[in-house]
Amino acid sequence: MVKICCIGAGYVGGPTMAVIALKCPSVQVAVVDIAQKRIEAWNSDKLPIYEPGLDDVVKQCRGKNLFFSTEVEKHVAEADIVFVSVNTPTKTTGLGAGKAADLTYWESAARMIADVSKSSKIVVEKSTVPVKTAEAIEKILTHNSKGIKFQILSNPEFLAEGTAIQDLFNPDRVLIGGRETPEGQDAIKALKDVYAQWVPEDRILTTNLWSAELSKLAANAFLAQRISSVNAMSALCEATGANVIEVSYAVGKDTRIGPKFLNASVGFGGSCFQKDILNLVYICECNGLPEVAEYWKQVIKINDYQKNRFVNRVVASMFNTVAKKKIAILGFAFKKDTGDTRETPAIDVCKGLLGDKAELSIYDPQVTEDQIHKDLALSKFDWDHPLHLQPMSASSSTEKQVTVVGDAYEAAKGAHGLCIMTEWDEFKTLDYKKIFDNMQKPAFIFDGRNVVNADELREIGFIVFSIGKPLDAWLKDMPAVA
Ligand code: UDX
Ligand code: UDX
Ligand code: ADP
Repeated sequence: MVKICCIGAGYVGGPTMAVIALKCPSVQVAVVDIAQKRIEAWNSDKLPIYEPGLDDVVKQCRGKNLFFSTEVEKHVAEADIVFVSVNTPTKTTGLGAGKAADLTYWESAARMIADVSKSSKIVVEKSTVPVKTAEAIEKILTHNSKGIKFQILSNPEFLAEGTAIQDLFNPDRVLIGGRETPEGQDAIKALKDVYAQWVPEDRILTTNLWSAELSKLAANAFLAQRISSVNAMSALCEATGANVIEVSYAVGKDTRIGPKFLNASVGFGGSCFQKDILNLVYICECNGLPEVAEYWKQVIKINDYQKNRFVNRVVASMFNTVAKKKIAILGFAFKKDTGDTRETPAIDVCKGLLGDKAELSIYDPQVTEDQIHKDLALSKFDWDHPLHLQPMSASSSTEKQVTVVGDAYEAAKGAHGLCIMTEWDEFKTLDYKKIFDNMQKPAFIFDGRNVVNADELREIGFIVFSIGKPLDAWLKDMPAVA
């Protein structure tokens, strides 16, 4: 029986290992983490992450061939294949701060693997890392190994949160990079045999190590670039009277471009896009390619611009001030069907409105009150460092200005404006007449995800702003300066 151990029971490690266990009954999978609470949650009825379909998969395998444990060293020592799926946040201090990946967790995992191993192992990079990390990890492993053989593979994960189980069941591709030596090729084959139990052979791509590592950064950069491209167009659409939905449909009909991932929004979020692009920018700079670095940096700049633009639009429309006005925030997660708030555009938008002294009433179906207060109290980059965090409470000033409530109607009650930050399905079918009746007048809706039917809402009496769509007469009279 092949034994797999995955270090890191997060958004990537947890679902990925659960699906491997489900699809490969003859493989024994242990997911280990130093965070005891996380492991306890994986072993309970309330899993630590919300992901459609995940509960089912875990229930089918847990206790059979899928185990969650804090006994990191024991399971690593027993495994044939060790996946490393620890967090790789952006460095906040020192060389490359704000850009380079912080490999502290990775390095300590690698040292631990070298320390406890008594038999040969395949070590698989699962978390996104800078190109050439494998080489560094190989050095740590071989220098501390007491003669044990390690083969390092890069097997980047392409799942998206909210659709993780679907993506894992039916991936566009599985990418495995390894050394071009006979031992490297054997290791690639061993991992390929695992995926081949459910993924068609022609979707399992094998490359050298560096191509696999770079492909992950490149894929995320290309995806984010599409969003920044359509978001840049959305600003021009508002200025000219074009409709971004019509423009992106027309553009996406070109098969060379394709229709997916062209939804204009208040900005992209999530743990990957910004981090991976910053990382790419840093790698370019380190390799003497400032023009390439500058090119990719623009993708992030447009994303920040889009969030600022949204805040400015809200404030400008409401007579240039939101001080002491209640504003409802619907949705806080970085996208629908997840409770994850890492890099969510809602953080920057809320902070912008708080900076203008607004009073916020926030509702999200999956994000906890505690998480929202923490996110709004943290400074940029801090939220990606769970292990470094001190137990903290929100700053008192933020806490006074922010309430977190249990449904959309309560959030909107008595509010002057309502901002939609996440495209949760339930926001499409709210009783907006009821919401309107309970709001201050004029009542504003700022749709950051283009989920509501603006014409219907205008019939009710709302002043509506939708990203990239022709502006109301009201909004035209109150121009926002980005
Ligand atoms: C992303 C990649 O899709 C995935 O392949 C990689 O493994 C990890 O990073 P994820 O961040 O989970 O996945 O979600 P994704 O669906 O890519 O969305 C990222 C952000 O872009 C979200 O905030 C989403 O709302 C936004 N987005 C996405 C848009 O604004 N418009 C779109 O058309 C698509
Ligand atoms: C382009 C558009 O494709 C077409 O839809 C529009 O109507 C006019 O402009 P054209 O300029 O004739 O058409 O050729 P195209 O095939 O798009 O190539 C443009 C340039 O891009 C060429 O120099 C081509 O060599 C280059 N190219 C194209 C690449 O370098 N790499 C590619 O992957 C594709
Ligand atoms: P991702 O989204 O990439 O899965 P997460 O932050 O959700 O990232 O998960 C990473 C997990 O890795 C965290 O639960 C963290 O506790 C765990 N982790 C970090 N370092 C180690 C380590 N040395 N040993 C075991 N687990 C670790």
